[in-house]
Amino acid sequence: MKIGLYPGSFDPITLGHLDIIERGSKMFDKLYVGVASNMRKTYLFSDEERLQMVKEECKKYPNVEVILCSGLTVNEAKRVGASAILRGLRAMMDFEYELQMATANKMLDDDVETLFMMTNPHYSYLSSSVVKEIIKDNGDISKFVTPNVIEMLKKKYF
Ligand code: COA
Repeated sequence: MKIGLYPGSFDPITLGHLDIIERGSKMFDKLYVGVASNMRKTYLFSDEERLQMVKEECKKYPNVEVILCSGLTVNEAKRVGASAILRGLRAMMDFEYELQMATANKMLDDDVETLFMMTNPHYSYLSSSVVKEIIKDNGDISKFVTPNVIEMLKKKYF
């Protein structure tokens, strides 16, 4: 059975992330989506809020399970039996950071591969920060996130 882990902050989850999850779910028998819990990072949404938000968006995919991840991603991959970490690449700007992470992960555990999927061109400019910037000024984010996420963002900002 092929098991993958797609880790991320998902603060909030965007349609770009969901595109990777949908396509990734077809590549693996089971895909874990790991919501990162990092004490050194400041998130808009709490761990529990992000976990519930991502679970809600992924419930339509029967082979996708959403979990909270803390510590090293390779350790989480090992714990759930994943042979690969899935990451989306949006543009050249992602490359260096992702190369560094993939190399570090490979050195930490040679058995866990990192697989990159090109982000759908519709979302190559998109990030969670962009979504937060737009909603703060009451802009329209309906092309970037789901209605559920819009509601959660509105509760935070208004
Ligand atoms: N569509 C839209 N946006 C996307 C995207 C996509 N397909 N893929 C990434 N992004 C955006 C995110 O929205 C996010 O935007 P933001 O910076 O405005 O918040 C940004 O790209 C970063 O994305 P994310 O995938 O959440 O990565 P991250 O940099 O927060 O990293 C981990 C999260 C969990 C993968 C990483 O920090 C990690 O592995 N941490 C554990 C420690 C570890 O093992 N480190 C490696 C060894 S040193």
